[in-house]
Amino acid sequence: MAESADKLALLRWQIEAGADEAIGETPLDRFAAPAPTAHDPGSPVKPGAGVTPLPTPSSVTPPPEAATPAAPAAGPGRKGVEEAPAPDFFIDAGADKTNAHALAAAANSLDELRAALSAFEGCALKHTATNLVFGDGNPEARIMLVGEAPGADEDRLGRPFVGVSGRLLDAMLAAIGLDRSCVYITNILFWRPPGNRNPTAGEVAACLPFIERLIELVDPAVLVMVGGTAAKTLLGQSDGIMKLRGRWFNYESARMTRPIPATGIFHPAYLLRSPAQKRTAWTDLLAIKRKLEASPE
Ligand code: URA
Repeated sequence: MAESADKLALLRWQIEAGADEAIGETPLDRFAAPAPTAHDPGSPVKPGAGVTPLPTPSSVTPPPEAATPAAPAAGPGRKGVEEAPAPDFFIDAGADKTNAHALAAAANSLDELRAALSAFEGCALKHTATNLVFGDGNPEARIMLVGEAPGADEDRLGRPFVGVSGRLLDAMLAAIGLDRSCVYITNILFWRPPGNRNPTAGEVAACLPFIERLIELVDPAVLVMVGGTAAKTLLGQSDGIMKLRGRWFNYESARMTRPIPATGIFHPAYLLRSPAQKRTAWTDLLAIKRKLEASPE
């Protein structure tokens, strides 16, 4: 009895530390295994992971080649999760499965972009996630919201913002007369970071060409970044959300015909922890409503 209580306590400790995903069928004693080298393809540690400088967003300059992610570590893979076959347009393009820019650029519809992401091998999060979380709502929407990354609920259901934060986001949208039939919602990362840890700069760089292409394809009248990670990444700013919220920027990328008015709002997860900020969030939502009404159809 005492022994199983100890095991439960150990498991709880591991989950709290973020180790909440089993990525192999058989346990592996990492202490007994030889130390992986930077070039060991079996290493779970991607060379340079977590230290890659933040990518330059399209809003400033076209994405540089340097933002192309390194080949991912070959992980053990998830049993029962079949790798999606490479889409035809991708094979025709002769692109390599780790080249996010080539894959994203070759996609000319949301379905093609989703297929390209499924085939993409440049982000190791894919191997610990249960589902790809692509987007939700109306692809013809005039307003597009971009959050940070899927959490546990989103990972389980394969849809963005469906957990506690998502419910608050829905209520915020409802307050200005919007719902998922007239908005499109996605995230900077398309797979959940294990234990909801912060995205690394390498993961953001790997997914950036896809989110940029998704914005081009949805082509909204107004773009809203939900939280600091999305705002900093897409606006190319080093300031946090405290300084970026309440201001309007022009978001542009290489294949867009016109700049899109873009702003940042507090993340609903932050508002749940800091309800006093809801008053500020309400001001920001009203500004978004006004901008949407003033934007050409
Ligand atoms: N937080 C996010 O940023 N995105 C989600 O999809 C859920 C929670």
